[in-house]
Amino acid sequence: MSGHILAIDQGTTSSRAIVFDAGMKMISSAQEEIKQFYPQPGWVEHDPDEIWTSVVGTARQALTKANIPLTDIAAVGITNQRETTVVWERKSGRALYKAIVWQDRRTAEVCDSLKADGYEKLFSAKTGLLLDPYFSGTKLRWLLDNVDGLRKRAEAGEVCFGTIDSWLIFNLTGGRVHATDATNASRTLLFNITEGRWDEELLALLRIPASMLPQVKDCADDFGVTNASIFGAAIPILGAAGDQQAATIGNACFKPGMMKSTYGTGCFALLNTGQDCVTSSNRMITTVAYRLGGMTTYALEGSIFIAGAAVQWLRDGLGLISQASESGALALRADPTQQVYVVPAFTGLGAPYWDPEARGAIFGLTRNSGPAELARGVLESVAYQTLDLLVAMRKDWGGHHIETVLRVDGGMASSDWTMQRLADVVGNPVDRSAVTETTALGAAWLAGSRAGVWPDQEQFSKAWACSRRFQPSIEEAERQTKIAGWRNAVSRTLSGAQ
Ligand code: G3P
Repeated sequence: MSGHILAIDQGTTSSRAIVFDAGMKMISSAQEEIKQFYPQPGWVEHDPDEIWTSVVGTARQALTKANIPLTDIAAVGITNQRETTVVWERKSGRALYKAIVWQDRRTAEVCDSLKADGYEKLFSAKTGLLLDPYFSGTKLRWLLDNVDGLRKRAEAGEVCFGTIDSWLIFNLTGGRVHATDATNASRTLLFNITEGRWDEELLALLRIPASMLPQVKDCADDFGVTNASIFGAAIPILGAAGDQQAATIGNACFKPGMMKSTYGTGCFALLNTGQDCVTSSNRMITTVAYRLGGMTTYALEGSIFIAGAAVQWLRDGLGLISQASESGALALRADPTQQVYVVPAFTGLGAPYWDPEARGAIFGLTRNSGPAELARGVLESVAYQTLDLLVAMRKDWGGHHIETVLRVDGGMASSDWTMQRLADVVGNPVDRSAVTETTALGAAWLAGSRAGVWPDQEQFSKAWACSRRFQPSIEEAERQTKIAGWRNAVSRTLSGAQ
């Protein structure tokens, strides 16, 4: 057995599989888009069977491309879109409804009524989360209330619930293992993050039978072995983590005070707070960064729902560019004397505003404003939103040492223009990871280190390299003026302002 690792990265828009060699270099990969279903306004669903077949398909392709004997694959690591909720029949493994995606807002009313009954504090104290439809708990409650016969069958122990990691582990092991890891569990609204267990009081409040829940394991742990029929050999599954936590690991943010920000569809910034389970006073989320050897490391997280998705809007909605990679060049042509602000609240605003009713707005248009100014406004909005998160996290963890450098990855991080703007707006250096597949690398490291074929945390941290550092390059007065303009734009966009 050599030290190759198969990483499975099941994301919101696609499934990816990557094979890394023993030197942690990516040697092959495959990707398949998955369909998005929008059955009603605000609803977003995936097909669990399509998720499963796309994962198997891409993993097989990556293994074939790697052109190595299967016996060289020491382990599988899994990382996934978080919060997305699946229910299936324990006996047959048949999915009983579509997967309800993290972006889905159908449970806004349940959340509102729990808030009105005064339960937000309790949920926050135990789970580190807010009562927002984003998280799995109210989605599972909706399924139990709305899918015919589901509650009765769940109470009889016939039904499993899981986030995408659990769904994949169950299928990969031929139904032998119903498990999740502590990071994915920490996104469900059902997991007590200080005690490290499912919380009976919260389960009772949401009327969720405990028998549906997966066993919660460490991120580097024994998740069973793959059925030999799937890849042609039984391979141990030794790592699992939600994608943002895997990116935190892949960026080697292991020390308290280190921070990463990933720019995909949305943007998720995580600040490692070590063993300190910080309660946010600024509408951030407290989450499990990772659990290794039974020890939980916590993080403060800021979640922005629209980042790369706004660039997609420039491309598909407005037709201003034909490829996302053109956005930086277009923004560069913008008239520097114009201050056009785009607030991309297409699906409401996430942290720190949590305003599901807000909708996107553009400010500062003149007769001279055109595609370039809009492109600049969109790219800058990502930088301003990141700043909002950093400011909130710094306030929450005031008095502790927080690194000034922000490590970045994800699709938008490849735009030099955007990353320079980010450094200018946050007023701190921004380090772009040399490995573009940081999320998959994090999952691979969990599996590889557990298998004993990859370096330990310290050596892995030393090996982390940045491909480019972006230094802030604008005067502080200019920075403050721009930020004031952004704050004004956001305050006029919030639903209460209309
Ligand atoms: O919390 C949602 C997040 O995990 C989704 O990430 O990369 O699939 O958009 P991504």
